[in-house]
Amino acid sequence: MKRHDRFVFLILTAVMAASISVYADDDTGAATTVAIIGTGDMGDSLGPRFAELGYRVIYGSRNPDSEKSQNLVAMTGKNASITTQILAAQAGDIVVLAVGWPAMETVAQNLGSLDGKIVIDMSMPVEQAEDGYYVSIVATSSAEMIQLWNPGARVVKAFATQASYVIDDPDVVGGPVTVPIAADDRAAKEQVASIVAAMGLDPVDAGPLRLSREIEALQRLYMVPLLQRRGAAWEPYFRRSSFWECIWEDDWSDPVADAGKLADIPETQDPPKPCPGT
Ligand SMILES: NC(=O)c1ccc[n+]([C@@H]2O[C@H](COP(=O)([O-])OP(=O)(O)OC[C@H]3O[C@@H](n4cnc5c(N)ncnc54)[C@H](OP(=O)(O)O)[C@@H]3O)[C@@H](O)[C@H]2O)c1
Repeated sequence: MKRHDRFVFLILTAVMAASISVYADDDTGAATTVAIIGTGDMGDSLGPRFAELGYRVIYGSRNPDSEKSQNLVAMTGKNASITTQILAAQAGDIVVLAVGWPAMETVAQNLGSLDGKIVIDMSMPVEQAEDGYYVSIVATSSAEMIQLWNPGARVVKAFATQASYVIDDPDVVGGPVTVPIAADDRAAKEQVASIVAAMGLDPVDAGPLRLSREIEALQRLYMVPLLQRRGAAWEPYFRRSSFWECIWEDDWSDPVADAGKLADIPETQDPPKPCPGT
């Protein structure tokens, strides 16, 4: 190695060491690989956002060699690559299922073992009823079906109720963008919540995975203006409120079973005005 080459090598090694320590130090757990299955609207929005946070992104596509796939990899950055859906899923610590139904039914059952991996579902299993409005085609929810097919996976419902362009730019709708997160695995929910917050979005604890049914209902509601062919769309976000704290003492219900051991979710919105009269 010539002196000049050795100098370049030393600089490169230092740069690599610096970037590795950025991954290792990141409190969102950015040393991990994220597999994005599907390179459509959501895949090509989430991939670059994960890459910005320092994650290694590996896309899984039916056409990894296509020009569109290669352009997506180039746009995502130096830690990105693309392969088949199954190889990507096997390489990922986190597997993001950015495919729709009915394809999901085949995709989610053919990714190999997903044991121990965080699997993020954002999909909506629907068909149009006779009047054109969406109805669910599953008795439970997409997230629960994915869990049933992959019992060892740590399934998390997230990124379901905002449009892909809001993932690209959370400021585009002019207010906090809440992302309801449902999961049975507390640590998986916390990890996804910290990723959501690091992306500039607002994570909201939506309870256990079963509550994905309600998230999917919100998705169906969100689609109404599109199906009605209205000019205006509505995005379903939540705002912080002090209402529960104001009526706390008059509350009649029993707390949920996990009320004492809730997931740690970053607080991202400013507290609302205090209760009236306090
Ligand atoms: N778009 C949004 O704003 C939005 C917002 C919230 C939730 N979602 C949900 O996110 C999921 C993805 O939505 P999207 O808008 O990204 O959909 P999309 O643009 O249609 O992309 C889906 C991707 O899935 C892969 N795919 C399609 N058919 C497949 C099949 N038969 N087998 C295997 N893979 C197939 C394709 O990737 P390859 O060509 O690379 O294989 C395709 O690009 C949906 O469930 C949707 O309901 C979407």
